[in-house]
Amino acid sequence: MPAVIVVGTQWGDEGKGKATDHLGANVDVVVKFNGGNNAGHTVVIDGEKYALHLLPAGILSEGVTPIIGNGVVVDLEVLFQEIEALETRGMDTSRLKISANAHLIPSYNRLIDKTTEKFLGKRQLGTTGRGIGPTYADKMNRIGIRAQDLFDESILRQKVEGALVNKNHLLVKVFNKRKVDVDEVTAELLSYADRIKPMIVDSSLVVNDALDAGKTVLFEAGQATMLDIDHGTYPFVTSSNATAGGACTGAGVGPTRIDAVVGVSKAYTTRVGEGPFPTELFGAEGDELRERGGEFGVTTGRPRRCGWFDAVVARYAARVNGLTDLVVTKLDVLTGYEKIPVCVAYEVDGQRFDEMPPDQTSFHHAKPVYEFLPGWNQDITGARTFEDLPTNAQRYIEFLEDVSRVRVSVIGVGADREAAIVRHEFI
Ligand code: GDP
Ligand code: IMO
Ligand code: MG
Repeated sequence: MPAVIVVGTQWGDEGKGKATDHLGANVDVVVKFNGGNNAGHTVVIDGEKYALHLLPAGILSEGVTPIIGNGVVVDLEVLFQEIEALETRGMDTSRLKISANAHLIPSYNRLIDKTTEKFLGKRQLGTTGRGIGPTYADKMNRIGIRAQDLFDESILRQKVEGALVNKNHLLVKVFNKRKVDVDEVTAELLSYADRIKPMIVDSSLVVNDALDAGKTVLFEAGQATMLDIDHGTYPFVTSSNATAGGACTGAGVGPTRIDAVVGVSKAYTTRVGEGPFPTELFGAEGDELRERGGEFGVTTGRPRRCGWFDAVVARYAARVNGLTDLVVTKLDVLTGYEKIPVCVAYEVDGQRFDEMPPDQTSFHHAKPVYEFLPGWNQDITGARTFEDLPTNAQRYIEFLEDVSRVRVSVIGVGADREAAIVRHEFI
């Protein structure tokens, strides 16, 4: 299976980083195809914790070529901070490649992201404040700055000037902020040019050449299906395509080259930021699941909203991504519950929905219809085969498989790299 896409099926933080890392030994190239440092992936190797934001999780595996694809937005300050932090811990980051077409996040877009959120007041989205939305908006408005622009100073200056015409009006006249200086921004961006130059490639060519040579390429998504700009809970979404189609546009490969699409899902559900979440638990129940799962964001440290597994979301993710396999993570977190609810459908104003309601208002009003599965008490963190799991844990996984209609190929039973059960190999 040489070309495999890994996507989140819920609202992010499903354990995509761990899933990518787990596959590391069998992979030659890992391409991140969307998002930027709004992502936060925690990978635990031999008890050592690594928190990645912008870098693909593949950077932690020796022999893997990590690539930042054209669909990613890059904050250069964060990029070099992350590289230095890994180098200090003895990791080799010299294989990293960056697409010449990747857009850069200039510092003014961080400011605009945070200020826009403040001005939205009650309608705010709860963004990560990393400048992601404004940078993708610039890309679509054709006033973005790309990595390759750093190598032509006069072009760079023209582009910064062009971008700032409207932005300075907005900042000064609407937001009551200081005007951003073209020279300052240009100089700041140029200060990274020499360091980034050796990493710049035509990532589409590198990826396609690797596939032609029979190598295995993993396409790593940031964020997730329900945060996708087209298929998520708009407007409470991020600004990129985090679904499988985004891998083709964000890395420069054709859909005919893809062999498998792997969805990563928690055994329950979490969400950070605002927006609808039908199975959300409040009060003590929510606190309990948050504590058990250690559900606090890697990027902003915010407590994650927690709820039960939602099969309507899982089926939807299976459909819009064309999932071939599921990786279910954090099954160990459910140990000790007497009964585990799984949402199998919604009820909206007395009407049952087995599939995602077609309009946002209904989704906001959706009440979960639960089935209850018997729990287990045995510690499962040491399980390495399906048969090692208690019968009720096996039944829980088989139930998720039935209701989501996708085979569960890998089960996560702990944070460490080795804490997983592989039922079906997809690489
Ligand atoms: P990502 O953004 O999808 O890569 O996910 P995050 O790293 O933000 O959040 C997933 C969290 O769950 C991380 O802290 C992981 O170390 C942890 N994790 C992943 N898989 C498992 C698992 O199977 N069991 C447990 N207990 N933790 C896991
Ligand atoms: P990973 O890759 C969870 C959420 C934010 C906010 C919304 C928009 O770790 O799964 P943005 O800054 O992207 O404009 O914020 O999206 N969000 C995430 N939530 N995991 C992520 O990434 C996220 N990236 C963005 O909380 O609600
Ligand atoms: Mg995360």
